[in-house]
Amino acid sequence: MRYIGSKVLLLEQIEKIIKDKAVGANSFCDIFSGTSTVARYFKKDFEIISNDLLHLSFVLQKAIIENAEYPKFKNIINYLGKDPFDYLNDLEINLSMIQSTPFIYENYSPNTKSDRQYFSNENALRIDYFRQTIEEWKENNLLEDNEYYYLLAGLIEAIPFVSNIAGTYGAYLKHWDSRALKRLELIKLETVSNNKNNQSFNKDSNELIKEIKGDILYIDPPYNKRQYAPNYHVLETISRYDNPVITGVTGMRPYKELKSKYCVAKDVLNSFTDLIKNANFKHIIFSYSTEGIMSIEEIENVLKKHGIKESYQLTKIPYRRYKHRAGDVEHDLHELLFYIEKEVKC
Ligand SMILES: C[S@@+](CC[C@H](N)C(=O)[O-])C[C@H]1O[C@@H](n2cnc3c(N)ncnc32)[C@H](O)[C@@H]1O
Repeated sequence: MRYIGSKVLLLEQIEKIIKDKAVGANSFCDIFSGTSTVARYFKKDFEIISNDLLHLSFVLQKAIIENAEYPKFKNIINYLGKDPFDYLNDLEINLSMIQSTPFIYENYSPNTKSDRQYFSNENALRIDYFRQTIEEWKENNLLEDNEYYYLLAGLIEAIPFVSNIAGTYGAYLKHWDSRALKRLELIKLETVSNNKNNQSFNKDSNELIKEIKGDILYIDPPYNKRQYAPNYHVLETISRYDNPVITGVTGMRPYKELKSKYCVAKDVLNSFTDLIKNANFKHIIFSYSTEGIMSIEEIENVLKKHGIKESYQLTKIPYRRYKHRAGDVEHDLHELLFYIEKEVKC
């Protein structure tokens, strides 16, 4: 999934630090997991803990991190006589098939109730039907927990491919992008087996950190004032499917509880300090940007205060995506990867 701050392009650099510094480590925690790209990549090597404040991320994590293989779907296959992905993808949906309020159709596609153009009418109905059906199957014990999250993640992952947006859900396009007119089809996500007890959470990182321990902690918080919840509000609502009271041109759900202190200038340093102080992990890798709210000096001070000073290391990686702009002068923008070793409590 396209996601602000996704670290798809940084995996090799992170791996290099791990190979250099954390030989013998067994566990890896991705505490700001987003798309789960980082946790998924390192699942081949480590027992994984993953976490994020957003429910949409939690669903992806449950599907990819906790599942070791494509779920068996025994009960639902018995019931339907076929694989649930094939069953849902083959359906033609119309309004009369939807049992509860078609929340996405009514609020995020253009009709008598809304002007919003996030989805075509056909795809909005598909989203409502798929989402309600998956919930109903779970309530009727036709899906195990892991099967439920795997199907739901297949929906979450598929939606950006048919969304009429320029990148995030902060706004919809006024014209119809050709992608949005394609038919929504659920996606089967790839799973990796590592024969370990991998765990996913949906908590504030600063709360979770007090409850966990392990070898490697990877920290990738937001680095600027741009909150994630408003930028992904439609996906979050589909993930939760909780019929929120929405407002404004974009139909925003309330997101007070989902606001991150890492996006707030007056709070971020305290939150970061608290996280590092409470981390019961031997190796800490911290992703940030030269454009971030905290300065390199501030970060360095915190890491050295709570870790082993001599182990401190900073790797600067030029932002690749900025290099290719026409007539671009080399910018002084860098992704930052900090490393510190900590004395850990047993
Ligand atoms: C830079 S993104 C992570 C990207 C991720 N590494 C990837 O490759 O997709 C930051 C993530 O932190 C989450 N987040 C922000 N504040 C949080 C908090 N206090 N606790 C847990 N997650 C938080 C956001 O929801 C967002 O998904």
